[in-house]
Amino acid sequence: MSYFTLNVADRIATLTLDERDAAVNTVSPEWITAMREAFERLKADEDVDGVIITSAKPGFMAGADLKYILNETAHFTARDAFDFSQRATAMHRAIETCGKPVVAAINGFALGGGYELALACHRRIVVDDAKAAVGLPEVNVGLLPGSGGTQRLARMIGALKALDVLLAGASYKPADALALGLVDEVVARESLLDAARAWIQSGPEAGQPWDRRGYKTKETHGLLDNAFANAMTAQVAALSARYGENYPAPLAILTCVYEGVQCPIDGALRIESRQFARLMTDPRARNIIRTTFVNKGLAEKGARRPGGFEKTKVAKVGVLGAGMMGAGIAYVAADAGIEVVLLDVSVEAAEKGKAYARKILDKRVQKGAKAQDAADAILARIAPTTDYAALAGCTAVVEAVFEDTVIKADVVKKAEAVLGADAIFASNTSTLPITQLAEASSRPENFIGLHFFSPVERMDLVEVILGRATSDATVARAFDFVAQLRKTPIVVNDARGFYTSRVFQTFIHEGAAMVGEGVAPALIENAAKMVGMPIGPLALLDEVTLDLPLKIVDQAIAEEGATYTPPCGAPVMRRMKDEFKRSSRKAGGAFYDYDEKSKRLWPGLAEAFPRAAQQPSAEEVGKRLLYVQALETARCLEEGVLTHAGDGDLGAVLGWGFPAWTGGTLSFIDTVGVGAFVAECDRLAQAHGPRFTPTAQLRAMAAVNERFHPACAA
Ligand code: NAI
Repeated sequence: MSYFTLNVADRIATLTLDERDAAVNTVSPEWITAMREAFERLKADEDVDGVIITSAKPGFMAGADLKYILNETAHFTARDAFDFSQRATAMHRAIETCGKPVVAAINGFALGGGYELALACHRRIVVDDAKAAVGLPEVNVGLLPGSGGTQRLARMIGALKALDVLLAGASYKPADALALGLVDEVVARESLLDAARAWIQSGPEAGQPWDRRGYKTKETHGLLDNAFANAMTAQVAALSARYGENYPAPLAILTCVYEGVQCPIDGALRIESRQFARLMTDPRARNIIRTTFVNKGLAEKGARRPGGFEKTKVAKVGVLGAGMMGAGIAYVAADAGIEVVLLDVSVEAAEKGKAYARKILDKRVQKGAKAQDAADAILARIAPTTDYAALAGCTAVVEAVFEDTVIKADVVKKAEAVLGADAIFASNTSTLPITQLAEASSRPENFIGLHFFSPVERMDLVEVILGRATSDATVARAFDFVAQLRKTPIVVNDARGFYTSRVFQTFIHEGAAMVGEGVAPALIENAAKMVGMPIGPLALLDEVTLDLPLKIVDQAIAEEGATYTPPCGAPVMRRMKDEFKRSSRKAGGAFYDYDEKSKRLWPGLAEAFPRAAQQPSAEEVGKRLLYVQALETARCLEEGVLTHAGDGDLGAVLGWGFPAWTGGTLSFIDTVGVGAFVAECDRLAQAHGPRFTPTAQLRAMAAVNERFHPACAA
């Protein structure tokens, strides 16, 4: 396996990173060994005065391959992880102490381990190119730059500035990187290697400042600087408030910087490796990587797309209903280069939908994220209309009219009268069964559910819902369309609430039920946030309105009658709505009172739902809220509503904000341990009711120590 080429000309060695059979250069143990050996040879080579490191790929280098981290390091002990980090560190030390000037000629992105390599060089020159960027994104996956990134950056640009960069996990364009001191020089692409050569020929010092005798970091001067210590203390408080106990990486990074700058470099690098080992062996980093990166990427590449069908592309799409969802769908389709016919009952309504896209585009132009002419071109692709004839030539239609079976049936018929026989018809319904809606269609095999989330332009997830008659060809085409929109698909079978709405309901009902039990509402809200839910269940109910979950309950009662057990929060929601006339934020407040700037829990709650003398712990409340969702997801998988555990996780994290540290609802069960989860559910069922009773499959899994995700795989 070869990772780079090495050429010597005019006493300058050029090491060109070029991992064989790979689109990008990534960090691997084999690469580390090869680099170390190369630098040992270069150090001893009397014909070499200096070294340029560059790349033959469009990018300089990415970091570690996340699939590798997920699959190949799962069995690591803390000692293994420490050694893993120290091996990379030793290679970087070999580069910076080789006694010859080494320059990174950064020809594209240098991220994570790629930028750490550049940091170990004595100079960093980057091309002036829109695709070039440097940065340390490790914090985003629950890790830290564990081969010197925290230590070299702190010494190069100062500890506090470095901390900002390390905690942000952002990528920096060349000009910003230069301003921050992340690189030393920005040059035109054609001058990159000349600039690198010129620097070596200028006879620079071949070592790092931190290897000079008597070197002290700015922050310590040998003693701890007071202002620095105070700033770090404030940061600890800010990070604890922001991440609580759920995300250990930011505090670990802070520890590296704080303790590291007080030590000589080799000791500092050992501190960093210890913190890295702690994070790498913590299931939370692996959870984040599995769901938010690896499985998300696989889903977007069509992991669940039925095979055997040619890839298709939609050139013209019809969007029926230009309300909140239709307008958002029209915008993302136009942004993806698709012609959009946006149809509503009146020209004003259709135009209003187009105006939504205009508003988003104006903001993007103002921010400099989009050129005016590009924005104009996107907007020009949206054609508002009331005329079904305009749908001629559309190969896909997304319906987002009112949530009403009769209206939906009407638009299906009108659209199909104009559409070609092979056009797919997708409903964005949030509650109505796809199979039932497909009854209005003359070609139910082309009928499918595509459940987008609000706001469409910001929410990546799309639930692809299969009706009984939906053909595989339609599923494949729906997947291609979702990929065109740059969204993340999961596959869900047709059942009440589909997947995300169904599980999400358990969260809000559990919250409301606790109010009925006399649990302090503030405790419910805070406990939800402490476990990482983005918003408490009561505040969320105020936003989605109590009418919506109650409507779902009423519909189920109408359909199933006495066999249906209403969910646990329904009695409280009904009293709030009917007795106290408080049903949503929009309607003047429900669990909360609102003024322009803030909200506070409705004081009447204490009287309406008297507080129990004995309050549960925040841990117990948080547990109920997470467990009820995880268990419902397990039921969805067992009932075949979901077909893959990875889809359940993705839907949870991307769809309704189940905490990323868990990796999603099913990864959460794995993290707790299926056996421990089952035992805890049995206890909760005893205390709070049969909704917590573990499923048969969970018990069977617990008996043989099975997991939803094998320990070493996505
Ligand atoms: P909305 O009320 O904002 O928009 C509906 C639009 O459909 C209105 O502009 C209305 O004039 C138009 N419309 C009504 N009858 C029509 C007809 N016969 N022909 C053409 N247009 C017609 O509703 P929203 O929120 O956009 O929801 C639309 C659909 O998306 C519903 O099925 C809803 O359940 C679903 N959905 C809504 C989500 C949300 O967060 N609001 C999330 C996911 C799905």
